[in-house]
Amino acid sequence: MKKATTLFKEGDHRWQVIARDPERPSHLIDTNEYLVTSKSASLLTDPGGQEVFPAVFSALSEVFDPRTLTHVFASHQDPDVISSLALWLEVSPGLKCYASWLWCSFIPHFGGDASTFVPVPDEGLQVELGERSLTLVPAHFLHSSGNLHLYDPRAKVLFSGDVGAALLPGDQQDLFVSNFDKHIPFARGFHQRWMGSREARDAWCSRVSKLDIELLCPQHGAIYRGADVQRFINWFAELELGVLRSGT
Ligand SMILES: [Fe+2]
Ligand SMILES: [Fe+2]
Repeated sequence: MKKATTLFKEGDHRWQVIARDPERPSHLIDTNEYLVTSKSASLLTDPGGQEVFPAVFSALSEVFDPRTLTHVFASHQDPDVISSLALWLEVSPGLKCYASWLWCSFIPHFGGDASTFVPVPDEGLQVELGERSLTLVPAHFLHSSGNLHLYDPRAKVLFSGDVGAALLPGDQQDLFVSNFDKHIPFARGFHQRWMGSREARDAWCSRVSKLDIELLCPQHGAIYRGADVQRFINWFAELELGVLRSGT
């Protein structure tokens, strides 16, 4: 079962993760969904595929009324990211979806209409959520041609989509990375296959190294915290990319 865990709380400003599901069918990649709230506003990052919607909805409902969801954010267009959009719109018909402008005529094939989408320009966007200001950070070509991450400077959290993802064995369900050296082999093949642009990688590493990040939260696998955040950025900066290996 998926379960909601609080990552940050300051008054009504919260980050909660709907983390991993050891009982999911093995043909589906496991995903993390993150809920950010401030006052009456709320945003769910990469709300997931339609196949995992019941699991996400049920875990979220334990800590939050999904009918009050005001925003979703799609880091890119993949089915594991946003194919559940039509189902979320049934729950909360007025919600808005932030996504790269590049995908704003493609994602509506999963649901929504022109009024649903807030197209985000390539340079990113400052987003007001309740009393907090969040930043949509460019992460293009990592791995999608229109790709964004979400930074919360107050909570010091970076939601990094597929960057930082690790395909962990079923017996490794820890929420946080506890041993970087043992964890990172499970991220290597994924990044080498899915992240094809050195130029984009270099730009991202340089951009996010300037941010104050306590938690780097990927869509798949465990969360990096504290010193492991910069450790991950340094590892990624040195990684050989665009490598084809079976099973990644
Ligand atoms: Fe993806
Ligand atoms: Fe993904």
